[in-house]
Amino acid sequence: MSWNPDQYERFRAERAQPFHDLASLVETRPAMRVVDLGCGTGELTRQLHEKLGAAETLGIDSSESMLAKAPASDGLRFERANIETFTSDQSFDLVFSNAALHWVPNHETLFARLTSLIAEDGQLAVQMPANDDHASHRIAGEVAERSFGIAPRVHDVLAVARYAELLHELGFARQHIRLQIYGHLLDETRGVVEWVKGTLLTDYQRRLGDRYPKFVEEYTTRLLEVLGDRRPYFYTYKRVLLWASR
Ligand SMILES: C[S@@+](CC[C@H](N)C(=O)[O-])C[C@H]1O[C@@H](n2cnc3c(N)ncnc32)[C@H](O)[C@@H]1O
Repeated sequence: MSWNPDQYERFRAERAQPFHDLASLVETRPAMRVVDLGCGTGELTRQLHEKLGAAETLGIDSSESMLAKAPASDGLRFERANIETFTSDQSFDLVFSNAALHWVPNHETLFARLTSLIAEDGQLAVQMPANDDHASHRIAGEVAERSFGIAPRVHDVLAVARYAELLHELGFARQHIRLQIYGHLLDETRGVVEWVKGTLLTDYQRRLGDRYPKFVEEYTTRLLEVLGDRRPYFYTYKRVLLWASR
């Protein structure tokens, strides 16, 4: 994936809000051992570490460019690793992941594996975008397939209620799961393109190489046709927030 920290951080405040909403679901306990999966630049990992007064927090991410700025300090460290294969000798009091697990397939298997990383009375907290049915995502897939002959990127996010069943089946005693709609007032419809360039389009960029600028051009034209060239534009973004305790 071609992650670009500068593009991602263009909407820093908007992207941080779901993180804060997720972090507020976590129960603070003494001397917690925490792992943040897909920690990105590590800035929010640091905020989580400080908010919880954690004993140890580990942030993992597969992208070297995102980790390049990661703010390691006492008790806070970062490692380059894949969520799919990440293991640890010691269990965690909190497995946390903000806006990353939607990139990882097979959630039934993934959540079972993540549960095995959690201590007896530990917690799981996950936030994932679930906006594939919005025109911003749908049109990217249509342009990719029709004009460039590559498969649309779909994320493996399950139906929200399935997470409730799954967490119950995995032995979590308490849970809080919700679908939340974040409304972002952008200056104009074109702002949607800048938004998705920092996330969804990174996957198309990686697969299209030199053809990516042409893709963005065609995507923008089609998006403006469908959504209208509005100023301002109210962009709705659905996200799943889930928290559970064993
Ligand atoms: C949208 S960013 C979120 C970063 C951070 N959690 C935040 O909230 O700012 C998604 C991050 O997940 C990472 N990521 C995606 N798939 C991954 C995987 N399979 N293993 C590890 N990291 C992954 C990307 O490199 C990227 O830094």
